[in-house]
Amino acid sequence: MNLHELLHKDELTREEIVYLLSLKNEDDKNLLYTRADEVRQFYCYDEVHLRGIIEISNYCDQNCFYCGLREANLTLTRYRMSPEEVIATAQMITNLGIFTIVLQSGEDHGFDTDLIAYIIYSIKQQTNAAITLSLGERGFDEYRAWKIAGADRYLLKHETANPKLYSLYHNKQKLSDRIEHLKFLKNIGYQIGSGNMIGLPMQTVEDIADDILLCKEFDLDMAAFGPFIPSPNTPYQSKNSGSVELTLNTMAVARLILKNVHIPATTALATLDEDGRIKGLNAGANIIMPDFTPNPYREQYQIYPDRKCLKDDPRKCRSCLQLQLESIGRRVSSSRGDSLKLTPNEIINWSFK
Ligand code: 5AD
Ligand code: SF4
Repeated sequence: MNLHELLHKDELTREEIVYLLSLKNEDDKNLLYTRADEVRQFYCYDEVHLRGIIEISNYCDQNCFYCGLREANLTLTRYRMSPEEVIATAQMITNLGIFTIVLQSGEDHGFDTDLIAYIIYSIKQQTNAAITLSLGERGFDEYRAWKIAGADRYLLKHETANPKLYSLYHNKQKLSDRIEHLKFLKNIGYQIGSGNMIGLPMQTVEDIADDILLCKEFDLDMAAFGPFIPSPNTPYQSKNSGSVELTLNTMAVARLILKNVHIPATTALATLDEDGRIKGLNAGANIIMPDFTPNPYREQYQIYPDRKCLKDDPRKCRSCLQLQLESIGRRVSSSRGDSLKLTPNEIINWSFK
């Protein structure tokens, strides 16, 4: 079978996925990205959804080996935004015409159930934005309370589908627990997002194929694939960054397999490559997640160093992105950008919530 036929197959085997992920020749990669772009256009049209991130706290009780927010990193100045600051930032984001607010933090149990519920409820009262939570693994009762308070989506990356690597990166935590959390979140009605990091120490291309297959099994609403970037003051500080090429190949293959799913061009990709966002949008992505965390906090959310746009004024971000998108024939969506898997009836119900 030639590459053209492979790219048009309905289902791909694990071996075929590994083959596509490993493409290096420029012409072959262009064929892959062009096909991913066609599939993206069929399912998502030319709209790009912006998700406004607010990094509400950089405290974390975990010690993931790759992450600068890990508890053992004592060099970091820690912060927790007040509910009023978070709510005001959410209002600013919706005033810019962005209708998804992502509340993101380390696994910070000091930000307790009620405080988060209060923030969610207040934002839902004052705006018509969807709320995505990205707060790590929390209690099942907390997930339920936040759903009742009005949260719509939960982003919890599985990071790697290889259970041995998972336990290595996460101090013996178990992949099976993370999977249970994702299933629970889906069962109680969250739209769910997950995904991996590309280029983690000891990861193979076969592992990445399994990551994509796991995303398929979860029937995700959003799947994020971003490159690993070594972070100072972590055990992996002197490892190599993930490859931009392999990240783009992963996003493109994921688009072929997962089809009607949201795929972001991640900030980590834009950090490693000046044109990373555009390259990602041309290889299957339909989402951008700009950071709206106010100063002085945004500099202190150091998952990895030199994040793209860290020093820029977030209020200028919307128009800057719009120009970039229009240059490649895409437009900023003015909708909430809910799951592409909802039925027309469900969409009506969601939008009246
Ligand atoms: N490089 C890139 N992404 C990272 N993340 C954590 N550490 C890094 C890193 N060093 C991502 C993980 C995690 C999210 C908080 O950030 O995927 O889910
Ligand atoms: Fe904490 Fe998340 Fe970083 Fe792990 S990846 S250390 S849970 S912020």
